[in-house]
Amino acid sequence: MVKLGGSVITDKTRPFTERKDAIKRLAGEIHSARRELGLRLIVGHGGGSYPHTPAAKFRVKEGRVAGGSSPHGVALVQDAAARLNRLVVAALIKAGEDAVSVQPSASVLADASRIVSWDTGALEAMLDAGLLPVVHGDVVMDTAQGWSIASTEDLFLYLAAHLPVERVVIGSDVDGVLDRAGSGAKFDVITPRDLKRISASLQGAGTVDVTGGMRSKVESLLKLAEERGVESVILNAAKPGLLESALRGETGVGTEIRISNR
Ligand SMILES: Nc1ncnc2c1ncn2[C@@H]1O[C@H](COP(=O)(O)OP(=O)(O)OP(=O)(O)O)[C@@H](O)[C@H]1O
Ligand SMILES: [Mg+2]
Repeated sequence: MVKLGGSVITDKTRPFTERKDAIKRLAGEIHSARRELGLRLIVGHGGGSYPHTPAAKFRVKEGRVAGGSSPHGVALVQDAAARLNRLVVAALIKAGEDAVSVQPSASVLADASRIVSWDTGALEAMLDAGLLPVVHGDVVMDTAQGWSIASTEDLFLYLAAHLPVERVVIGSDVDGVLDRAGSGAKFDVITPRDLKRISASLQGAGTVDVTGGMRSKVESLLKLAEERGVESVILNAAKPGLLESALRGETGVGTEIRISNR
């Protein structure tokens, strides 16, 4: 599974501002790696300044609680996520991929912000058919609170529990997880044992982001390593070629998150 971070494919300091060049370049990197290696791949992308903007304004993550969001906010978030998704899918098709959109809000069900059901049958059939499924962070229905927000990382966690996922590549706008409490350098490897030590470094996004920035990203990926044994890497997809290198199996291109320090 590979994620194109909303921080790369949009400008998170400007509402509803996509980065067309980055989307096109990353679509090319995915196609180039897949053409040669024949990878069975699921693409996900974040929301960036598209859905994060109405999600923050209408407090959609809180659901239908007192003082929380209205159905209008849900509609605006879903529309924004879908509009950005069309741009990503179109770029992948133009790059040579048979990309198809998988819209999470249509079939994911959450309970108190945790995904509890998602029929992955169609997605698996797409993979078997040689298609490239593209999921995205989205608003989803929620049995406890009406609705909530599922980040791409939440979706990946669920998918890894139900499909034989080998590796996860997360492209964001930073070189990896940075030691913000110390030297500022990137951590090469993070294991569950490191969480306490690096916790002070892990913060939100600094820009509009309703799903918790780097902190929740690392927590999700550590869970993935612990519960499923799946390794992941967080890298800077704003730097040309890095995402493709990771898809080709190169290591050392970002922060690796895994169960032990080998
Ligand atoms: N220790 C840290 N190391 C690196 N980045 C950090 C750290 N703590 C917080 N951050 C912030 O996390 C941001 C990345 O998370 P963010 O959720 O914005 O990106 P994204 O997942 O690519 O976007 P989206 O959620 O829209 O897909 C960085 O831009 C940085 O500001
Ligand atoms: Mg994020």
